[in-house]
Amino acid sequence: MNVQSVEQIWQMAYPDFVAFIDQDNSPPGGEPTISWWIERAGISADSHVLDLACNTGFSSRTISRRTGCTGAGLDLSAMSIAAARAASIAPIFDGRLDYRIGDAASLPWSAGEFSHVVAGCCFGFISDRERALTETARVLRPGGKLCVSALAYIDTPPASLLDDLQQCLGYRPAPARTVSFWREFFALHFDVAESWVEPLPINSEDELRDAAVAHMLRHQHRFDGLSVEQREATLVRLFRDRLVFNENRRYQTCCRWVLNVRSN
Ligand SMILES: C[S@@+](CC[C@H](N)C(=O)[O-])C[C@H]1O[C@@H](n2cnc3c(N)ncnc32)[C@H](O)[C@@H]1O
Repeated sequence: MNVQSVEQIWQMAYPDFVAFIDQDNSPPGGEPTISWWIERAGISADSHVLDLACNTGFSSRTISRRTGCTGAGLDLSAMSIAAARAASIAPIFDGRLDYRIGDAASLPWSAGEFSHVVAGCCFGFISDRERALTETARVLRPGGKLCVSALAYIDTPPASLLDDLQQCLGYRPAPARTVSFWREFFALHFDVAESWVEPLPINSEDELRDAAVAHMLRHQHRFDGLSVEQREATLVRLFRDRLVFNENRRYQTCCRWVLNVRSN
């Protein structure tokens, strides 16, 4: 992206900012969540996996690298999909991954195309999430599995934290999205096969600052064309986002599910 001003860095939508800084988005629970999905949902070289609202495609790349499966990913953010495509041309993927810009509420695939859909922290972001869930069920084969990792509230965060989250994410997370809220939502089309709920790790402010600086140093080449002020704004926004998300984790838990699509 051709960044012209400091304001542009602050105004970028959150998914675009993730792609802009070359951050590997990973589902709640990180790589252990992906290992759990592979094992519990039986993802193998014969699987065909859709990474729903994939952002830069970290989950599908990791799954395909580890199992040899084919896959596709879809996201509304053009910048995220550009980053996912760039990362998937590595020879190790041998053309097995196909990333598209699109809306999860209207999937550009025929019924029954996928053996698995992975959905890391995405239904909270999707505005028409019920239609997206119906679409997810439609593109799964009979016997297909939905692998979810979601953040659920266990306590009500203060309004000031919700304001900060709205600034970071572009939407205001609803404290009503508890574990049972998500269970009832998925029950519209799916039955639970496996579940796992775990607390989220909390970091100190120093750890978050160090991690943000380390990220900027590791990805220096990305920021070569930026002015000192633009680089500083990028670091400040990255650190601000991590502080706010870290604070939010005190009120949340991480839920993983493998769900069986219900045949109607
Ligand atoms: C927090 S990210 C999750 C990314 C990834 N699934 C993961 O586990 O890290 C949420 C993503 O949802 C995407 N998104 C939001 N609404 C969408 C929609 N209607 N259709 C497709 N993607 C959408 C955003 O662009 C963003 O990349």
